[in-house]
Amino acid sequence: MLSLTRAIPFPLQETFYRGLTGSLKYVGAALQLVIRLPEVFAGPGASLLLCDAVAGTGVTRLLLVTDAMLVKLGLVEPIVQRLRERGVVVTVYDGVQPDPQVEQCEAALALLKQHSCKAVLAVGGGSAMDCAKIVAARATNDKPVWDMTGFFKVAHAPLPIYCIPTTAGTGSEVSVGAVVSDPVQQKKLPVIDHKLVPRMAALDGRLMTGLPRAGTAATGMDALTHAVEAYLSRIAIPESDQYALEAVSLIMRHLPRVMENGADEESRQMMAWAAYRAGLAMNRAGLGYVHGIAHNFGAHYHTPHGWANAIVLPWVLEYSKPECTSRLADLARASGLHTGGERDADLADKFIAHVRAMKLNFGIPEGLKDLREEDIPGIAEAALHEAHLSYAVPRYMDQATCEALIRKMLV
Ligand SMILES: NC(=O)c1ccc[n+]([C@@H]2O[C@H](COP(=O)([O-])OP(=O)(O)OC[C@H]3O[C@@H](n4cnc5c(N)ncnc54)[C@H](O)[C@@H]3O)[C@@H](O)[C@H]2O)c1
Ligand SMILES: [Fe+2]
Repeated sequence: MLSLTRAIPFPLQETFYRGLTGSLKYVGAALQLVIRLPEVFAGPGASLLLCDAVAGTGVTRLLLVTDAMLVKLGLVEPIVQRLRERGVVVTVYDGVQPDPQVEQCEAALALLKQHSCKAVLAVGGGSAMDCAKIVAARATNDKPVWDMTGFFKVAHAPLPIYCIPTTAGTGSEVSVGAVVSDPVQQKKLPVIDHKLVPRMAALDGRLMTGLPRAGTAATGMDALTHAVEAYLSRIAIPESDQYALEAVSLIMRHLPRVMENGADEESRQMMAWAAYRAGLAMNRAGLGYVHGIAHNFGAHYHTPHGWANAIVLPWVLEYSKPECTSRLADLARASGLHTGGERDADLADKFIAHVRAMKLNFGIPEGLKDLREEDIPGIAEAALHEAHLSYAVPRYMDQATCEALIRKMLV
């Protein structure tokens, strides 16, 4: 049991000691939580196969959670039609907004109850998937969403959750998390529980070919950040390393291609796969300061999540480099940046420069124009609180250091 200290950040250990009933096993010398995997359908048209499989589970009444834009774009109708053909009564909630708020989750929950739905299907980006996860958890747990933020606070198993992602980014289709926002209190907090892992996910790149350039860049950089932060995490294990390196390699190859040609179905499919693998890496090894800061940019300024990550990522990598040079060099190799014989320190620099150049090339700037000097202490404090409670970062940062780092992003 003592080897937990090497494997899991402190707040998690506490939860384990309190008697978590999830499946635990030893990996090497360390104890790890075994996280269930969704049943995955991948390839063009996979979303319709998922509909068949959902109907095959015997569910007859289902809530589909999505946003109005996706309904307008015609992405939702074929899915609804397929489910209805298979005998499932579908109720659609299309009120999800980017960075879902409690009010939207509660409105969807009311609809779920009104129509006696027994499962939840998300069609959309991270916002729709996270909203669906929270609705499924609220349906079986009679406590406010804010009492579920943090680790392992979803006491009862949620209703079955199914996901059809339409962005290649968040990895929510496989992740243990769901993020909820409160714009009034400027809070954006994760609910993290292995019970939130969806039952099934469809990785259908065809649904992503219409995603505009800015959204493609932001969501792709989110997936990259998941893989990079998981790889640099101090609780990374060989399994998460494998997922992270595969994701980084795919993203470096295919994100520029989908930015060049959004209709490139093959590269869209590869990005869907990469985001999923990055999500697996994140489940195992967690995230880091980039997400801590980006979540708080989102909470204060509603900055799209992936956009915020892309702004913050190079700055945090530069800061972290002294403590993770060889890991950054591995990421450079996975990105195909090595020419042979270079020192790790040079490769690490090359990787950071490449990430910076790539996001600038996609039109994502070095700094955040909404950022205000007077907000920086609060953003730094909240980011450090999130990170130190949840993530095994490679190089520790104190309040003054974090403020100085964020100040670099003033424009
Ligand atoms: N649960 C997790 O593990 C996890 C991880 C990272 C981020 N998140 C959360 O996910 C949210 C962000 O999700 P996101 O980046 O996927 O964006 P999103 O779901 O907020 O969608 C952004 C916009 O893109 C549009 N869109 C989505 N798919 C489209 C498509 N195929 N074609 C055209 N338009 C499309 C949507 O209508 C929306 O207007 C944030 O709240 C973030 O905090 C969750
Ligand atoms: Fe993310």
